[in-house]
Amino acid sequence: MASIRRTLSPSKNHDRTQQKHSPVDLRRILAGEVFLHRHPRRHAPWNQSLLLGLLLLFLAGFFVGISPLIGLERGGFDRPPVDLESSDSTVPRKLVIVVTPTYERAHQAYYLNRVAAALKLVRPPLLWIVVEAEAVMAETAEMLRRTGLMYRHLVCEKNLTDAKDRRVHLRNRALEHIERHRLDGVVYFADDDNVYSVELFERIREIRRFGTWPVAMLAESKNKAVLEGPICNGSQVIGWHTNLKSKRIRRFHVDMSGFAFNSTILWDPKKSRRPTSNPIRQLDTKKGGFQETTFIEQVVEDESQMEGIPPGCSKIMNWHLRLEAQNLAYPKGWQLQKSLDAVLPIK
Ligand SMILES: *[C@@H]1O[C@H](CO)[C@@H](O)[C@H](O)[C@H]1NC(C)=O
Ligand SMILES: *[C@@H]1O[C@H](CO)[C@@H](O)[C@H](O)[C@H]1NC(C)=O
Ligand SMILES: *[C@@H]1O[C@H](CO)[C@@H](O)[C@H](O)[C@H]1NC(C)=O
Repeated sequence: MASIRRTLSPSKNHDRTQQKHSPVDLRRILAGEVFLHRHPRRHAPWNQSLLLGLLLLFLAGFFVGISPLIGLERGGFDRPPVDLESSDSTVPRKLVIVVTPTYERAHQAYYLNRVAAALKLVRPPLLWIVVEAEAVMAETAEMLRRTGLMYRHLVCEKNLTDAKDRRVHLRNRALEHIERHRLDGVVYFADDDNVYSVELFERIREIRRFGTWPVAMLAESKNKAVLEGPICNGSQVIGWHTNLKSKRIRRFHVDMSGFAFNSTILWDPKKSRRPTSNPIRQLDTKKGGFQETTFIEQVVEDESQMEGIPPGCSKIMNWHLRLEAQNLAYPKGWQLQKSLDAVLPIK
């Protein structure tokens, strides 16, 4: 590469001079020949040296003349890699590892399709880890196959009958997988029932260690929208939005969908300067509202290790709407079996 570039630049300089000189050289040669024919003997030594000089000039002119062509030809192969090196397209993008626990309920197909639609618009590389309890559902497997996304479909084989929140165990199954296979990227817990902007996933790529941002959500009363997450000065976290007084005792006020972190923290305690090498897992022992903070406390020591994204934390990039239809079974195969039971038959 380097040697090709060195031959390239002088030839570029010659490019400009070549057009002026080589026709002149040719004319001189022709003139010399004519001169020789007229005075073959008397001026022979002088003419010969002149001819030799002119011949050399001609040859020099000839090579200078064709060298830009060689340069261009080489340049044709040489330039694209140089251009690509400096463009964004070859700077390797970080892997985004999206962890989605899912389970059977009325809106499951709707939720998964909505998340998939957002993920499909995100530039690769992105890995979607979808975790289910007990067994892989054929409907989920089929849906994942058709997305065209890079995915892993995992099962948490634990008996979750007594689990307070089964999603905790499903997420832990994904964490185990990331740890065992040393997946290198930024991990994000994206529950299936949230709404995500495409920008969020691009912002997640900027995270070095632990990134957090405010999430808009519907209050549990469902009659007002509230914010939960960091208040930032630039990318420095200086405070928290929080809503429920009872939750003030939490250390960090972040929604499960309001943070993402570097996966090396999970499998490389030395490199990520963690005090212990215990596996980092979500805890099911705490009551609701403390899952996030008890997890984050294992990943960072305090706010100084956090990055607020985007700078200023003034943008809402995802929404948690809590619009769950309780106790509704989803139709088998996500298909309507009783479509013939028309309520308003056409007469
Ligand atoms: C799961 O645990 C519950 C309660 O602990 C128990 O009743 C049930 O039999 C267990 N199921 C399996 C498949 O082991
Ligand atoms: C994660 O952190 C490690 C150690 O600090 C660093 O080498 C690596 O580049 C980071 N990875 C990402 C995806 O930022
Ligand atoms: C925000 O950061 C700047 C620069 O670090 C500092 O000068 C300013 O006082 C900070 N503002 C607040 C409200 O903390």
